[in-house]
Amino acid sequence: MLHTASLLHDDVIDASPLRRGAPSAPSKFGSKLSVLGGNFILGRASTALARLGDAEVTQLIASVISNLVEGEILQMRDKTYLKTASLMAKGARSAVVLGGCEEGEVWKDIAYAYGRNVGIAFQLIDDILDYESTSTPGSADLTLGKPGGADLQLGLATGPALYAWEEFPEMGELIGRKFEGPGDVEMARSLVHRSSGVHRTKLLAKEFAEKAKEVLDELPESVAKRGLVALTERVVGRRS
Ligand code: FPP
Ligand code: MG
Repeated sequence: MLHTASLLHDDVIDASPLRRGAPSAPSKFGSKLSVLGGNFILGRASTALARLGDAEVTQLIASVISNLVEGEILQMRDKTYLKTASLMAKGARSAVVLGGCEEGEVWKDIAYAYGRNVGIAFQLIDDILDYESTSTPGSADLTLGKPGGADLQLGLATGPALYAWEEFPEMGELIGRKFEGPGDVEMARSLVHRSSGVHRTKLLAKEFAEKAKEVLDELPESVAKRGLVALTERVVGRRS
C-alpha cells in the first residue's frame, strides 16, 4: 500500500502519462485526486499498521514513509536506499518481528540485510531498464508499462550516467546542469550507450543480488528460503 501511495505521488511529480501499461492516475483523474488518493491509501495503511499493535513494526514502517519522501527529495546520493531499499529492508524486518523473532536473535538483521541488498539491486535494474527502453522518450514502452528514458528528462543521473562520466568527462557538465541545455538529453544518452555504464550498473546490481543470496545462506533450508533465492534471481533477470 505504501508503494502504491508513493507511485500515485511520483506520477504527479514526474508528470508521467503511464503506469503499469495504463494511463497514470494524474493523467486520468488529475493531480488533485491522485494526491488525495495517495494520501487516502496512506491513511488506510496507517490504520492497518496500528491494528497490528506492534510498536517496533509501527516505528519501522512509519520510518519507511519518511525515507520515501527523503529519497524522492534527494534523488541522488543515498536515494537508492531511501527511495527503494528501505521499504524492502524494513518490510522484511517487520515480517520477522511479526513472525515472533525475540530480542537478541539474529533473524531481524538477516531479514533487514536481505531486503536492503535485494532493494538496491532492484533499483539499479530499474535505472538500467530506463536506458534500455526503445520507445521514444516520454512515450509508452509496452514492455515497461511506463515511458522509458524518463530519468534524463527528469534531470536524474543514475548508475549508467555516473559510470559513463568516469569514461567521458564531458558528462560531468551535463549532469551539473541537469541535462537542461539544448540536446543535453540526447548527448547524455549517446555517451551512456558508448560507455560501459549500463554493463557496469548491471554488474553492480548482480553484486548486490549475490550479497542478498549470501545473507540467505544463514537461513535453514525451507520452501520459503528457496522462494527468496528465486525472487532475488528474478529481480536481476527482469525485463520490465
Ligand atoms: C518511483 O521512482 C518512486 C518511488 C519508488 C518513491 C516515490 C516517493 C514519493 C513520491 C514520496 C511520497 C511517498 C508517500 C508514501 C506519500 P521513479 O520515478 O524512479 O520510477 P518510475 O519510473 O516507476 O516512475
Ligand atoms: Mg516516476
